[in-house]
Amino acid sequence: MKKIISGVLSVLLALSLVGCGTTKPTSTTTTDSNGKGALIGVAMPTQSLQRWNQDGANMKSQLEAKGYKVDLQYSNNDVNTQVQGIENMITKGCKVLVVASIDGAALTDVLKKAGDNGVKVIAYDRLIMKTSNVDYYATFDNFKVGVIQGQYIEKKLGLKDGKGPFNIELFAGSPDDNNATFFYNGAMSVLQQYIDNGKLVIGSKQKDFTTIAIQGWDSAKAQARMDNLITANYANGKKLDVVLSPNDSLAIGIVASLKNAGYGTADKPFPVLTGQDCDKPNVLAMINNQQSMSIFKDTRTLAAKVVEMVDAILQGKTAETNDTKTYNNGVKVVPSFLCDPVYADKDNYKQILIDSGYYKESDLK
Ligand code: BGC
Repeated sequence: MKKIISGVLSVLLALSLVGCGTTKPTSTTTTDSNGKGALIGVAMPTQSLQRWNQDGANMKSQLEAKGYKVDLQYSNNDVNTQVQGIENMITKGCKVLVVASIDGAALTDVLKKAGDNGVKVIAYDRLIMKTSNVDYYATFDNFKVGVIQGQYIEKKLGLKDGKGPFNIELFAGSPDDNNATFFYNGAMSVLQQYIDNGKLVIGSKQKDFTTIAIQGWDSAKAQARMDNLITANYANGKKLDVVLSPNDSLAIGIVASLKNAGYGTADKPFPVLTGQDCDKPNVLAMINNQQSMSIFKDTRTLAAKVVEMVDAILQGKTAETNDTKTYNNGVKVVPSFLCDPVYADKDNYKQILIDSGYYKESDLK
């Protein structure tokens, strides 16, 4: 009965809006009392990186398996496209929006519209900044991602045993992505002591976040910066021993630059190089000794967590969170669920990536 009433109401709502030129929701979807059948908007930043395609596909299939309808949109890393896409989702009558933002601080106005229409918002992987209209945040522990990268470097180089000095260069992610500072701070929480005691020497002396950040997580920009760093600081046989890269898209650019500079021979092996996402080209780079490690964030786990949040919201319950202190978006602390990141490298990738069913052996050829 409830189902019929809710369906009739939706149709009446849709009819009442015809011809009045309003931007109010025009959904005709039928939902039951648990919200099943509801339309859920999923806004992902770009299809150009493998991880977001996987995130989008997992979200869609897991939501559909639970009986929801899904409006999945990508925005080619363009902020205006994402804003328009979200506006469109609100107009179509989405009940919950799941948003992996491009610029975390650029959604205030459009999410005000969501809030005014009673649409709930979950920030996916990246925190949405400067708005009260975000209900939950689901991500991996971003500080820990950086810590694991820093500890990997520490272990590979034997820094705890006093080995060194080693030549290092540092990269950070996109300044408009709140995660980027967490990755940087996490890694520096391990590495700073070795920079201070001279066991890690930054040839370029470039260390502060804004100087080393790469806008848009762009591989070509990372490659260009690495080219410049090599030309200016590593001429005349001076070798680079380690590069901190926060993720795989930067690592790809860094590897290309290192290759061009003659790294990858017995005399001049690739430096220790970190990454994140375990994108296929990067796993291949690990197998080929060009990249040392990559943080593995199982997007299936994150999607499952977000689907649980959607369920809770639509059933009028409080979703499970495990961090209510860390993620302040400038307006409020957003209740968060942090999943646990791990690392993969040449030694354990089969167990982490293949045995878990994330990739098939044939994917990595
Ligand atoms: C994500 C990373 C990703 C990066 C670039 C970050 O917000 O947490 O997993 O590599 O964006 O897309």
